[in-house]
Amino acid sequence: MSIDPMQYRAVLGHFPTGVTVISGMEGDEPVGLTIGSFTSVSLDPPLVGFLPMVTSERWDRIAASKAFCVNVFGTGHADLCWRFAKHSIDRPFEGVTWTPAPVTGSPIIDGVIAWMDCTVEEVLPAGDHWMVLGRLQALEHAHPDTDPRPLLFYRGQLGSFTAL
Ligand SMILES: Cc1cc2nc3c(=O)[nH]c(=O)nc-3n(C[C@H](O)[C@H](O)[C@H](O)COP(=O)(O)O)c2cc1C
Repeated sequence: MSIDPMQYRAVLGHFPTGVTVISGMEGDEPVGLTIGSFTSVSLDPPLVGFLPMVTSERWDRIAASKAFCVNVFGTGHADLCWRFAKHSIDRPFEGVTWTPAPVTGSPIIDGVIAWMDCTVEEVLPAGDHWMVLGRLQALEHAHPDTDPRPLLFYRGQLGSFTAL
């Protein structure tokens, strides 16, 4: 049975995701792209994963350094979510403040609700995407007193989380 691409997108769009920017350094230049397919993978060894398209130029540029940082976005980062998803924007980091992650030096964007500094463990073929596995080197989350609210993506729109 063949799967209609529109139906695939519509059905998978009913699965909500968080919003991250995967960042890395290409020499002196910060590079990043918006990724919703981020997931935890393994505690021992400590692995996380995400799936960039095989055609992603930005992932190619980040992958060359064998390291990346996962920036977990909060509700204050909606504009940056779209900016880092636009292939047409050459330098999405322009005007964005960040600090280097402690082990790999990959960018931690100011104000994210969590970050994970990773080295690339493995890159597996997964159809028209790569399955990237990263090994955690350092990680942190926002202080609970700051009331961190995650940015969520659902059916093509951004929103946030409300506890039932
Ligand atoms: C909320 C959201 C989630 C996204 N998640 C992914 C993802 O998991 N994998 C992916 O390849 N692209 C994803 N994208 C699209 C990329 O951010 C976009 O294609 C980006 O421009 C890729 O960079 P490049 O093509 O310039 O290399 C997502 C976009 C948005 C808005």
